[in-house]
Amino acid sequence: MTRILGIETSCDETSASVLSGAGDTVTMESLVILSQDVHRIFGGVVPELASRQHLTAIVPVVERALSDASMQMSDLDAIAVTHAPGLVGALLVGVSFAKALAYVRNIPCVGVHHMEGHLFATALEHPDAVPPFTALLVSGGHTLLLDVDAWGAYRLLGRTRDDAAGEAFDKVAKLMGLPYPGGPHVERLAATGDPARFRFTRPMLRRNQQPGDEDYYDVSFSGLKTAVLNAVRGGTANDYPHIARAFHDALVETLVEKTMRAVEQFGRERVVLGGGVAGNRTLAAAMRARASRVGAAVFAPSARLATDNAAMIARAGLFHFERGERAPLDLNAFASLPIPGLVRA
Ligand code: KG4
Ligand code: ZN
Repeated sequence: MTRILGIETSCDETSASVLSGAGDTVTMESLVILSQDVHRIFGGVVPELASRQHLTAIVPVVERALSDASMQMSDLDAIAVTHAPGLVGALLVGVSFAKALAYVRNIPCVGVHHMEGHLFATALEHPDAVPPFTALLVSGGHTLLLDVDAWGAYRLLGRTRDDAAGEAFDKVAKLMGLPYPGGPHVERLAATGDPARFRFTRPMLRRNQQPGDEDYYDVSFSGLKTAVLNAVRGGTANDYPHIARAFHDALVETLVEKTMRAVEQFGRERVVLGGGVAGNRTLAAAMRARASRVGAAVFAPSARLATDNAAMIARAGLFHFERGERAPLDLNAFASLPIPGLVRA
């Protein structure tokens, strides 16, 4: 059994978590997430403010994660830390802290790719959310459709050509004067809208697309965002719930259809959702309804584990630790980096 501390500082959450376990049998001993509210004032994340807040928060957040787990530093076997992708200044705080801690305690450190963390998050709550499965990762910075044969073996099927799904939610929220991050606000507003009032084209979704076509799995949300912008300009605030509904319906239907294409092509019986947008209940319900038609199960994380957190980093880190991977002391932070084990279809 391994006891591993996870650290996540890639964006605007300072988070630490302790897990214990082996293989796919893992217990979450603690999870502390400190969200940096300061960015709300600016309607988006201000990188330097994020770095500075991580710097003041990291020690108390880690201490709290240890005390919640009733553990001390000396109980830890390993440390996992997000080292890419994200805001470099923010990542460096977690990476430097993790390396220093690993060095003084003389225990191994493992670097984790943030999006691989999102892939593991759902397994913390659903023991069956393990490979093989089709994965849809939808966050503020990425939209990835993957076929996952085993942990560490990821086939990239599709991605966004422009905006990420969460980014589209955030931009639509901004157009309607809703707070950042906009996803949950747009979801709530859309639920009150009339689906028949507006209709936007489903982006990159045509019936005659074939497997092998470049746009068979890819998505694009910038046109949808422009359609929302035009509707907002041409209407009044009374139309916002209906516009939000039309946006939500178009985005969800697109993600569901693209994901189900992958489920059917690869004959998978499980769908795993990850990333902040995976906390969207409407998306999960629509995916479930569609997947049940082919007998596939859908696993979605709770909102707490869907958005950025260190438990998912510890969970992915445990996998790499068990494979014998160790980060060198010159482990660095990167704004972008491919997911380890990712191959293009
Ligand atoms: O994974 P995450 O916490 O951070 C990144 O790695 O980017 O995702 C944050 C994104 C934001 O764009 C936020 O608006 C979106 O996830 N989000 C949602 C919901 N909750 C968070 N989008 C749609 N519906 C939600 N309920
Ligand atoms: Zn994330």
